[in-house]
Amino acid sequence: MHPVVQIDQLAGHADQTVTLAGWVYNARVSSKVVFLVVRDGTGLCQCVVGKADVPPEIFDRAAHLGQESSLRLTGSVHADPRAPGGYEIHVSDLQAVHSTTDYPISPKAHGIDFLFKHRHLWLRSRRPTAIMRIRHTVIDAIRRFFNDHGFLLVDTPIFAPSAGEGAQTLFEVDYFGDPMYLAQTGQLYLESAALAYGRVYCFGPTFRAEKSKTRRHLTEFWMVEPEIAWAELDDLLAVAEDFIVSIVERVLANHREDLETLGQDVSCLERIRKPFYRLTYSEAAEILRGPRARDLLEKDLAERQARIAELTARLEAQEKERSGPGVKKHRQDQLAQEILDGREELADLEEQVRNIPLHMQLAAGFEWGKDLGGSDETIISRLHDRPIFVTHYPRECKAFYMKRDPADPRVVRNFDLLAPDGYGEIIGGSQREDSLDALLERMAMENMPTEPYEWYLDLRRYGSVPHGGFGLGVERTVAWLCGLKHIRETIAFPRLMGRVYP
Ligand code: 4AD
Ligand code: MG
Repeated sequence: MHPVVQIDQLAGHADQTVTLAGWVYNARVSSKVVFLVVRDGTGLCQCVVGKADVPPEIFDRAAHLGQESSLRLTGSVHADPRAPGGYEIHVSDLQAVHSTTDYPISPKAHGIDFLFKHRHLWLRSRRPTAIMRIRHTVIDAIRRFFNDHGFLLVDTPIFAPSAGEGAQTLFEVDYFGDPMYLAQTGQLYLESAALAYGRVYCFGPTFRAEKSKTRRHLTEFWMVEPEIAWAELDDLLAVAEDFIVSIVERVLANHREDLETLGQDVSCLERIRKPFYRLTYSEAAEILRGPRARDLLEKDLAERQARIAELTARLEAQEKERSGPGVKKHRQDQLAQEILDGREELADLEEQVRNIPLHMQLAAGFEWGKDLGGSDETIISRLHDRPIFVTHYPRECKAFYMKRDPADPRVVRNFDLLAPDGYGEIIGGSQREDSLDALLERMAMENMPTEPYEWYLDLRRYGSVPHGGFGLGVERTVAWLCGLKHIRETIAFPRLMGRVYP
């Protein structure tokens, strides 16, 4: 028995004999040779079993391994630039550990619902693998950034007795007979930690009972929140900017191949440099009402309609070919997948064509005082090729803890960071209200009871200082970096309003 080598380590074993432990990703069988593409979680490797090179029972075993059968095999490593990963194994011995038949996710066509119902298996496929690997790096880059910049990790509770953000998205749980909520944010606790330790962060699962079925909302997601004592709005923007740049750099340095697997254009990410754009809310509102927003959406509408016509014609031709005589099995499978993908794209385009007029109306009639909606963020973010800070929102549309701007009391010192290319908000943050009186006044305005927040008010009673922070959503960030249409693919087991299985 030779030592088991991981596929991503094969480069160090050229011309040696090694053992791989993995699963059959794909198999091609002919009378003289079996090509097994084996995956082991670190990569794919083509393993060649020649009839002339192995005992007959081994050749027979290799020829009958179904997709996702688990196996151990031994063979010599050969550099081959044409092979995926650059190495090929010439097999001398092979042991089936578990022989599988009828693996449900075959190279045949599968719709997105089917794939999510089989998420526990789908994770093995190429696309989810690339996304999970990038997510891992994003999380690692997040932790490193804060650890390297003098932030102390303080874990905040998941059971929260009161709302940290809007009360309408609270998940209530029974806590020994009393109502309790799942954390929407660690922020309020973190403010207390910032006044204790200076620069702190928390990183954990976050829960929001979002009833809207959008591409950007999960009911359970991961948020990292830094909080900094003695910081004002501009200090926070500077940290957020460096933070995002460091994440993008790490992803580019480690995942060019994964990004390619996902069809993501790396030049979008290579453009992410300091300084990011800065707009006030009022400037953003002007853009929404102005000609650039209108032209963008009119162009969108025309493009979508043209694509619908093109796609409809293509689908018709493909349906015809598929039902025609003498179509080979391989071609049939290919057509089935293309038709399925085409239909999904078509449904998506039709929905967009229905929505664009509404989005145009919302933008053109945007009134000062309203929060930016998802479609408004998309417009602003599509008009920019680097991230955009939108600052100074009207006080009424933002959370009670945000600091009122002394220079213009109608607005707060907050910011949202919009990712470019239509991805919208990935960070929300603000300087916090540090005056006890101003905070009490705002809470009264919102009809908030003070009793559950006495501890929070204490932070303004004992050594209050200017401070602030922000929260970055991991899943929205990963969706942006990977160029994904929907946030649900960015987490192994997504939780959405209509989806909790598996
Ligand atoms: O803007 P939000 O609600 O800000 C806060 O929670 C603050 N307490 C953060 C702070 O200042 N410490 O959420 C922050 C980020 C959003 O920008 C978004 O990336 C993500 O969390 N997020 C969601 N991601 C997925 N699904 C949802 N339902 C999300 N809600 C917010
Ligand atoms: Mg927000």
